[in-house]
Amino acid sequence: MCGIIGYVGPRECRDLLMEGLRRLEYRGYDSAGLSVVRKGSVGSVHAVGNLEQLRNAVAQTNGHLSGSTGIGHTRWATHGRVTEENAHPHWDTSGRVHIVLNGIVENWTELRDRLVANGAEFTSETDAEVVAHLISEYFDGDLVEAVRLAYNDLRGHYAFVAMSADAPSVLVGARKECPLVVGIGEGESFIASAIPAFLSETRRVQLVHDGEIVAVTPDGSRFIAPDGSALERAVDEVDWDEEEAEKGGYETFMLKEIHEQADAVAETLAGRLGEDGVELEDIGISDEFLKDVRRVIIVACGTSYHAGLVGRYAIEWWARRPVEMDIASEFRYRNPVLSERDLVIGISQSGETADTLAAMRLARERGAKVLAITNIMGSQATRDADGVLFTRAGLEIGVAATKTFVAQVAAMYLFALKLAELHGTLEPEVRRGLVEDLRSMPHLIAQLVDEIEEPTRRIARHWKDSEFFLYLGRHIGLPICLEGALKLKEVSYIPTDAYAAGEMKHGPIALLDENTPVVCVATDSPVLDKMLSNIAEVRARGAHVIAVASEGSGRVAEHAEQVVEVPAIDWLLQPLFAVIPLQLLAYEIACARGLNVDQPRNLAKTVTVE
Ligand code: AGP
Repeated sequence: MCGIIGYVGPRECRDLLMEGLRRLEYRGYDSAGLSVVRKGSVGSVHAVGNLEQLRNAVAQTNGHLSGSTGIGHTRWATHGRVTEENAHPHWDTSGRVHIVLNGIVENWTELRDRLVANGAEFTSETDAEVVAHLISEYFDGDLVEAVRLAYNDLRGHYAFVAMSADAPSVLVGARKECPLVVGIGEGESFIASAIPAFLSETRRVQLVHDGEIVAVTPDGSRFIAPDGSALERAVDEVDWDEEEAEKGGYETFMLKEIHEQADAVAETLAGRLGEDGVELEDIGISDEFLKDVRRVIIVACGTSYHAGLVGRYAIEWWARRPVEMDIASEFRYRNPVLSERDLVIGISQSGETADTLAAMRLARERGAKVLAITNIMGSQATRDADGVLFTRAGLEIGVAATKTFVAQVAAMYLFALKLAELHGTLEPEVRRGLVEDLRSMPHLIAQLVDEIEEPTRRIARHWKDSEFFLYLGRHIGLPICLEGALKLKEVSYIPTDAYAAGEMKHGPIALLDENTPVVCVATDSPVLDKMLSNIAEVRARGAHVIAVASEGSGRVAEHAEQVVEVPAIDWLLQPLFAVIPLQLLAYEIACARGLNVDQPRNLAKTVTVE
C-alpha cells in the first residue's frame, strides 16, 4: 500500500507534493521520490527511508527540482528491494515519461520482456517501471491516449499517475481497484491516493471509480473509460476537519481500518496468486525445506495468535502437515522440543512484540527454521527469522487490530496452499477453485463491510448495556469467535468468554440466563449441524443468539434471533469474512458507550516488554 500524489497548476509544486506525501506516509514509508517537469525536461529525486530523507535529498538539489507540474510517491515495497533505484517515480528510457504507482502489476514480466525486446532500458527491479516504458511506447504526443492503450495491456491491482516532459500541463491517472481521487482547485488540480493529501488546498473532489482513466489539467479534469468513451463525474464538497482528514473522513482510525480491509487483503494477495497456485518465491524458506518439513509450530500473541489458529486449520486440512499452536509467552518458557525439520512461524503485525521475538529466537537456537509473518518492513521480527512473509495492510493506527488480522489470515491461506502444492495433497481443480475464491475476496469484503455496517450497528445498539457476552464457534469458526471476544473486551471493556461450542456443556453453559447475548460463528462447515445443536442448547436456557452465517443458509436463521450473513465461498475461507461483523459489533458497542476505541485503556499498539 503506497501513497501517490500529483499537482498541475501555476504554483511551484515541490512543497505541495512533499506535504501531500507527509499526509500519505501511513500508507508506506520505506522510500520516496518526486519528479517535476521543468523547461521541457523532468527532474527527479529518490530517497530510501522516511520522508525526512527525501526532504534532505530535495534540499540538496538547490532548487533545481522546481516546476509547476509534478508527481510524488511514498513506498511500501512489494516487488524489488528497498533501494533508491526501486523508489518511485519511475521513467522510460528517454527519461521523459514518469509514473508513480500504488499496487501490483501482475503481468509485468511478460510486458518487460516485450519492452526490452523493443529496446527499452530498465533501471529498477520493480513491476511498476513497465508502465512508464509502455506509455512511452504508445506516446505520439497524446498522453491520455498513450495511458489508455497502456492501461488496456496491464493486469493486476493498481492506481497510477503519468507525466511527460512533452505534455507538461496534464497528468493522467488510471485506477484498477486501488484508490484514486482528484482535487479541483482554482486554476490548479491535484490527484492522489487519498483526499487528505490535498485537503488543505481544496475541498472540491472527484472520486475516480474502478476501471477509469482521468486527465487533470489546471482547468479541471476529463474522465474516460478504457474504450475511450467520455464519462461524467460530479464534483463533491468535502467538509472534513483536520482530524477527520487524518482518518480519511472516518470518525476513528479503527473504523477507517475496518474499511481498508479489502485493500489490505488485495495487497497481501497481489502478485502471489498464479493461474492455479500460489507464488511465494521470495519468503526466504526453500521449497526443499518445506517439502521435508516434519511439523509446523505457530507462535504469536493476541490477535496474531488467532490468525495463526485459522492458519492451523487450513494447513492441516489442505497440506496434511501437523501444526502446533502456542502463545508465545508460554512457548518461550515451556522448554519446547524442536528439530531441524521443524518450521516455527512467528506472527506479529508490529514485528516488535517481545514474547513473539523471544519465542522465534529460542526456536532458532534449538535448530528449527523460523518464518516471520509481519506487516512492518525492517522490524525486529524480520531480523530474528530465516524468512519473512510480509502482509501488506499499510500502517495500522488503531490499537485494536483489524486490517492486519485479515491480512495475516490471507497470508496463512497463501502459505497453507503453498505447502499443499509442495506436498501434492490437493487436487489441481480444488486448488484452482481456492485460488479463484481467494482472488474474489477483496471485492466481496468491500461489499460486505458496506452492506452489514448498518444492520450490525442496530444489533450493537440493542445489546450495548449487556454485562457479559459469550462467543461460540467450532472448527475454523473457533479462532474467529476468540478474535471477536477479544475485540469486544479491548474496546468496550465488557467481560466476554469465547469457547469451542462443544465445550460449552462442560461448564460455560452455567453462565447463561435470559439476559445473555451469545455470539455464534456458524458459517458453513462439516460441523455446522453440531453448531446448530449447540445454538439450540443456548436458546433452551433462554439466552439470545446473534449468529454469523453463510449467505443463503436459512438453517441458522431458524435457530438464531439475529443473523449477519457473509459471502458463501469455500467454507475454509469464510472465517476471513466472519470476523468483520464481530469487529463492527465491538466497534459499535464501544461507540454507543462513548469510549475511545482508538486508544482503549490499559493497552498499547505494540507490546515490547514481557
Ligand atoms: C489486538 O487488537 C491487540 N492489539 C493485541 O492483542 C495484539 O494483537 C498483540 O499485542 C500482538 O501484536 P503483534 O501482532 O504486533 O505482535
